[in-house]
Amino acid sequence: MTLQPALLSGDDEERAEAYEALVLDSLGVREEALNMRRLAQTYARISDALAAQSAVRPTNSQQTTRNVTQDDISNAIVWAVIYGARTFQIAHRLLIAYPPKRGSFCELGAGLGPFALRAALSPEVSDVSLVDIYQPPLESIAKMYSKLQLRTPRATRADMRSYKPSPTENLAVPFAFREVGSNPSIIEHWLDTMSAGSRIYVVEPGTKPIARELQRARDALRQKVSIVGPCQHDKDCPRLIGSNDWCHFTWRVPLGPIGRKIAAIGQRKWHELHASWLILEKPEPEKPGAKQNRENEGVDRSRAVVLSIRPGSKECEARLCCDGGEIRLLAGRRNREAYSAISNLEPGDVVELDSRGTRIHGGGTVLEEPEAIRSVAPIRPIQRLRTQ
Ligand SMILES: C[S@@+](CC[C@H](N)C(=O)[O-])C[C@H]1O[C@@H](n2cnc3c(N)ncnc32)[C@H](O)[C@@H]1O
Repeated sequence: MTLQPALLSGDDEERAEAYEALVLDSLGVREEALNMRRLAQTYARISDALAAQSAVRPTNSQQTTRNVTQDDISNAIVWAVIYGARTFQIAHRLLIAYPPKRGSFCELGAGLGPFALRAALSPEVSDVSLVDIYQPPLESIAKMYSKLQLRTPRATRADMRSYKPSPTENLAVPFAFREVGSNPSIIEHWLDTMSAGSRIYVVEPGTKPIARELQRARDALRQKVSIVGPCQHDKDCPRLIGSNDWCHFTWRVPLGPIGRKIAAIGQRKWHELHASWLILEKPEPEKPGAKQNRENEGVDRSRAVVLSIRPGSKECEARLCCDGGEIRLLAGRRNREAYSAISNLEPGDVVELDSRGTRIHGGGTVLEEPEAIRSVAPIRPIQRLRTQ
């Protein structure tokens, strides 16, 4: 299997397998040497701690003077083949729907830098840098980039709270913004040194409290930056009305074979991934932030992000978020083309809806003409997850 095409594959499983093989190789780990039971225990411990929202750090990057223990190794493997592997898959989706700006790419709170690694495979990205409060494990990182025949990234040990990114067009903060208190003023601080039009990708787990933290950051920033995604509007979030509401996206994302085995032994589910994310842009001076990316093509078209899809035996329902609020888009089984237009959507897709091909009925919007919905930024354009 050639590595670059496999990492960019439209097949989620092939991509998962390729990333896992690459990362294990870079850590110098052979499959036969893995103690799966121990890894499963480590995974269970980390996932419980994350669920309880206590800070757990990948320890492979923290080594200073003490000897590396078996626990450190297990932690590093679990972070790489489960959490980092998920970040890589999320990056793949987000960078397809929201391609990076032409220029350099920096991952903050990088660990092994899975987001930046996926970005490095994008034609727009010229060079990569990684920042972590612990020394990024450069040896492993360099090995991955060299296997992919990419230039070794610059790795800096720094606290991202005070870090001033050297001029970069793209910044990603995957699963690390919470580590610094989800404080929106830190994003403003980073944007200070970034050029107009540069992009920031923030991703966090899609749990109720964390998703709300991201929404608070969005609300605090929306007058100052362009909210590029997932929201296609800059109004109040229509999903946060009741105290139990929250905005997140659920994707079926496979792990590689070893990640799956670890999850299975630890009796953890791995099929579904819940993520909340924000993509922000520093506004161009002549184009005030709030107006960018939001023009609809005509009065009848509105731009929306797909929140969820529920195919049923009688009808398929998608929840969409647009500037008029949240809508239920429906198609009955009998209208096969409309049904399949909705069921083929993926949470996170940005679509345009032409009201001339829809009808309001019983608290929902019925899609009558399949062409009335058009994907403008599909999150996963090529194929769906194979059935398990
Ligand atoms: C959950 S890991 C995420 C790693 C990687 N971005 C990923 O998605 O797999 C969080 C990372 O943030 C780093 N981190 C925590 N606080 C930090 C700070 N103040 N400055 C820089 N890095 C920090 C940790 O060392 C850790 O590597």
